[in-house]
This record gives sequence, structure tokens and C-alpha cells, in this order.
Amino acid sequence: MFGAAPVILLVLMFNATMQLAPNLCEKYPERRYCIIEWMSRERWAHSERYTYKWDRKKCLLIRWADYCGAPLPNTNNFESEEQCYSECGGVFKRFREVNPEVIPKSMTDNQAHTIVVPVEEIEKLPELKENPFKRRICQVFSHDSSGNLTFEDFLDMMSVFSEAAPRDIKAWYAFRIYDLDDDKYIGREDLLEATKLLTAGQLQESEREEIVTSVLDEADVDGDGRLSFMDFEHVVARAPDFVSTFHIRV
Ligand SMILES: *[C@@H]1O[C@H](CO)[C@@H](O)[C@H](O)[C@H]1NC(C)=O
Repeated sequence: MFGAAPVILLVLMFNATMQLAPNLCEKYPERRYCIIEWMSRERWAHSERYTYKWDRKKCLLIRWADYCGAPLPNTNNFESEEQCYSECGGVFKRFREVNPEVIPKSMTDNQAHTIVVPVEEIEKLPELKENPFKRRICQVFSHDSSGNLTFEDFLDMMSVFSEAAPRDIKAWYAFRIYDLDDDKYIGREDLLEATKLLTAGQLQESEREEIVTSVLDEADVDGDGRLSFMDFEHVVARAPDFVSTFHIRV
């Protein structure tokens, strides 16, 4: 019944996990800003722009003088503070929405890694809600592996899942997510469990065994009965063909 290449299972796992793609503003512009001095403000024509400072998680006013040239397209120089926050500060906004009573409107650096939101609440986010791996995803990004997340944890999670994140970063985290027992390999047990999660328990154990065996036959290059990160990368490298074909929401 699952005659298609077993690689598909891994790709499905990959896609199921990587579906989160919040609209993030990730890129630093090449020329970030060209601030004109206070003294020159009145003399040189300029426009007011806003740029997002990731280290401070704030939108800052910059004054862009005409001689700097036009801001590059697709940079994080925004026309208004509001636009800047809605594009770049969106992550914090989402985080705060999870629990506005616990998370202050404006966070200090210290609070960013001390205030914790329980995993049960994070799992209710629309991006995660339907994801069969949601608990595991939270655990991987959690500072103490409990699944409870600080804002720093949450920011890491959103960065990895953003479209802008490089494929190898995604692959590394996907690997960690499927390595359910944290032994640095995706073993038979991990795959069995993943299959169970993906198919919502609708397959018999023997059917799942069969799928897992064929996944390993196909993807376990060194034949040690489990997938190393290298094996996994290999699969993911072949994934582009499948990504367009298998748009299945699991
Ligand atoms: C996670 O958060 C819940 C709810 O706040 C708490 O009961 C639990 O102890 C936390 N877990 C850890 C490991 O901190």
C-alpha cells in the first residue's frame, strides 16, 4: 500500500514540521543605515525610516539623507514604526499573544530569557496546533528541554521555521526533532514513533514496521540500522522534487 519511495515518509516528516513559516523580517540590509548627524538635520534633506535592531528587539528611528541613496529594496528599513513592528516585531507580538498576562508589553533583556510560557499554551498557536510533532518541537527549542519556552527560545524556533532560514539549519533541527530519544541518530524506534504520530495511529504496528524497514533500506547508507545526520541530510537534499509533489497537510 505504500509502494512509493520510502523517502517520502521522511519528506513528509520534514514538511509536517517545517510548515511553520511566519512572515519574518530576517535580513539585515547590506547598508543598514546612514544616519545624518543632529546638526545636519535641518540642512540636509532626509526621510525618516525605521530599522529593526535584532539585538535590542526594537525599531529605531534612522534618518536617511538623500545622499545615501534610496534604501535598498527588501531591506528592513521601514516607512513607519508601526510597519517596522508589524514586520519584524511580529515574533514578539505573537509570543505575547500566547499569554498577555504573563508577558509584559515591553521586555527587558533579562525577562527575554527568564519569563517562561508553558508548553501547553505554546502548542495552541495556529502554526503548531495541527502539527503532530508540536510537543517535540517545543522541547527541542526549550532552554531546559521541558517544552516551556522563554522569548529567546521562541525567537530561535521562529527563526528556524522562517522561510529565510537556510536549508541546512532546517535540516539540523528537523534531525533533532525526529531523534526523539536524543541519541544523535534517528533509529528504528524513532521512526516507528514518528510514523505513529504522522498517521494519527491509523496504521497497524506491522504496517508501520514495514514502512520503517523500507525507509531504512533506502536511506541508511552505512547500513547500521539507523540514520545518522549525514544519512538524513542526504534524504533532505533529494527532497526538492518531493516538496512540490507532496503537499499534504498532516
Ligand atoms: C513548565 O511550566 C509549567 C506551567 O507553568 C510548570 O508547572 C512546570 O513545572 C514547568 N516545567 C519546568 C521543567 O520548568
